[in-house]
Amino acid sequence: MKQPIKHSWAEPYKMKMVELLKMTSRPQRLKAIKEAGYNTFLLKSEDVYIDLLTDSGTSAMSDRQWAGMMMGDEAYAGSRNFFRLEKAIQKFYGYKYIIPTHQGRGAENILSKVLIKKGDIVPGNMYFTTTRLHQELAGGTFADVIIDEAHDPESEHPFKGNVDLQKLEALVKKHGAKRIPYVCIATNVNMAGGQPISIKNLKEVRAYTKKHGIKIIHDMTRVAENAYFIQQREKGYEKKSIREIVFEICSYTDGATMSAKKDALVNIGGFLAINDWDAFEEARNLVVVYEGLHTYGGLAGRDMEAMAIGIEESVNDNHIRARVGQIEYLGHKMTEFGIPIVKPIGGHGIFVDAKQFLPHLSQDEYPAQTLAAEIYIDSGVRTMERGIVSAGRKPNGENYYPKLELVRFTIPRRVYTQAHMDVIAESAYNVFRKRKSIKGLKMIYEPKYLRFFQAKFEKLK
Ligand code: F0G
Repeated sequence: MKQPIKHSWAEPYKMKMVELLKMTSRPQRLKAIKEAGYNTFLLKSEDVYIDLLTDSGTSAMSDRQWAGMMMGDEAYAGSRNFFRLEKAIQKFYGYKYIIPTHQGRGAENILSKVLIKKGDIVPGNMYFTTTRLHQELAGGTFADVIIDEAHDPESEHPFKGNVDLQKLEALVKKHGAKRIPYVCIATNVNMAGGQPISIKNLKEVRAYTKKHGIKIIHDMTRVAENAYFIQQREKGYEKKSIREIVFEICSYTDGATMSAKKDALVNIGGFLAINDWDAFEEARNLVVVYEGLHTYGGLAGRDMEAMAIGIEESVNDNHIRARVGQIEYLGHKMTEFGIPIVKPIGGHGIFVDAKQFLPHLSQDEYPAQTLAAEIYIDSGVRTMERGIVSAGRKPNGENYYPKLELVRFTIPRRVYTQAHMDVIAESAYNVFRKRKSIKGLKMIYEPKYLRFFQAKFEKLK
């Protein structure tokens, strides 16, 4: 019988330079993680073999981007690279006015200060740590309006990033539309496991918010990955290019905050984009207080040039297919090993369900934090907790108890090979086999804000 023709994807790039990695022994890793207070954020990167802490700022830039770095116009005001960046954002995303910022949270700070008044409610399709904190610091309260399936790691819903319109409507009825300055819509929702929102749902949210005079602000940090899932899963979008889908997504929103350190393939940078002149004018006033002049916003000219080029590369169909394809490869491997992961496989990493992996630990024993430390000890692979530690405390001091208790294996873009993916899955399996003997952690130091970055732990006896 004839075999069907297989069309494997492969990376649409090749290597021109490599960075050597340090290999460590188990005793070295045991010492390192203990010194880091069992917090993978506090490890020295030199002690890490494969670094899956984040996909943020960890991408490999292309030769075109590196060449662009040499074309930096390091003028304090009116740099040529700013105008290049502005043009790229207008061309590929369609937003009118833009302000560069040093990274995503710089844009979130300014946006929250411009749009949120004390006592306002800000609905969003699941929280993100820095986004919610800036909303709270501006006097607002975040309200989760994502569909229930997003909180269920087992649900195979193809668009777990969707908004539940009934939840949104209930908020409007309870608080009144005037108390809701905008709905924050994240594309490829990070905390849900890199899960997309559909165009259909986004259009519904647009129609509803328009009726009530509420803006939509787009957290477009991973918009290209979201567009890929729309292309693969949503009826009518099979033949559209990623570039077209990205543009269409943006067209249903009034502005955006962007951490360009993710999809836009740069090591540092972000921006705030907005279509409303008045809001832009105020943001332009504020950026000089917090970031720098409105034509550099905390970035060097060369950073803005690399970002402009990265934006264009990020909406290339071959790029994004290989990007998500690599994550799917790792996810399938883990599933074959019986490791419980969030499904469907997301766009920027694999999220292991630590509650199922370590069912003998209570949430107060930090199952995801524990698991991330164990994986590091096993192989030098660095992952990150996304559970109760990341969720932090409510303004009244109580702990948030998120339903999802996850360890994120985040894949940097264009950095690791398929062989690295094999090593990662095998290490997760190694820990999985001895999971019953794993003990939890106790928090011994807790910082006030975004505690997951600097908290320290001790092993429970
Ligand atoms: N929004 C989302 C959805 C993010 O994932 C991040 C960063 C930000 C905003 C903030 O951007 O870091 O440039 O200030 N996420 C990183 C991560 C830190 O590891 O998931 P930033």
